Amino acid sequence: MGTLDYLKVTDPGLTDRVQQMLDAPAELLLPERLLMYSLVRGLRPQRCLEIGTHFGGSTTITCAALDDVGAGTLVCVDPNPLVPADVWARLSHRATMLRGASPDILADAVGIAGGLFDFVFIDGDHTHAGVVRDVEGVLTVAAAGAHLLFHDSHYWEVRDAIDECVAKYPRRLLDAGTLSALSTDPITAPDGSQARWGGFRLLRVATTPVN
Ligand SMILES: C[S@@+](CC[C@H](N)C(=O)[O-])C[C@H]1O[C@@H](n2cnc3c(N)ncnc32)[C@H](O)[C@@H]1O
Repeated sequence: MGTLDYLKVTDPGLTDRVQQMLDAPAELLLPERLLMYSLVRGLRPQRCLEIGTHFGGSTTITCAALDDVGAGTLVCVDPNPLVPADVWARLSHRATMLRGASPDILADAVGIAGGLFDFVFIDGDHTHAGVVRDVEGVLTVAAAGAHLLFHDSHYWEVRDAIDECVAKYPRRLLDAGTLSALSTDPITAPDGSQARWGGFRLLRVATTPVN
């Protein structure tokens, strides 16, 4: 390995990390788990925001990447978090839980973080109106150049809402497109309708408003 040291590929803990990602109680497909870890580890954000935490699975993966970077914090926002105590005990050195709904609670989140967010994971309210509300709220708490990662972008309400926001804010939002093309098989909702879920889509907040 000696000659490749300049590429910084030495990481004896990575095998355990991969197992931790596979075991995390996340509602994420395999490529999404790997991408989420890699994005956070690669981007090295200082202040992360997670909208929609549920059992703490995506939180576990984000915190693992921040731990491996050795810096960064995460504020989680969820009106009904169900993170088991033993899972939270492994995250609380990096993450703060805010019980409440986005976007109303986002001003509190930015106060806790101590500055604007440079990485935002949006996986909360999956209705069209809810996603538009989240994006508009996030635009008030995101730093210039922030990365906005959306889960379930294959689900039609989320996809259409992201498209609407990109069209509505062309000077603020840059569309980096789909990062994970795999979707679930069709899942039947209680009302009998079927939809595919999963998918990562990335937007970027412009560093300066685009003309
Ligand atoms: C699909 S789960 C999140 C899964 C989690 N990100 C993971 O992959 O491990 C959606 C969560 O969003 C939360 N939620 C729903 N509406 C929300 C809102 N307006 N703001 C924040 N969280 C919301 C729900 O309570 C639920 O826990």
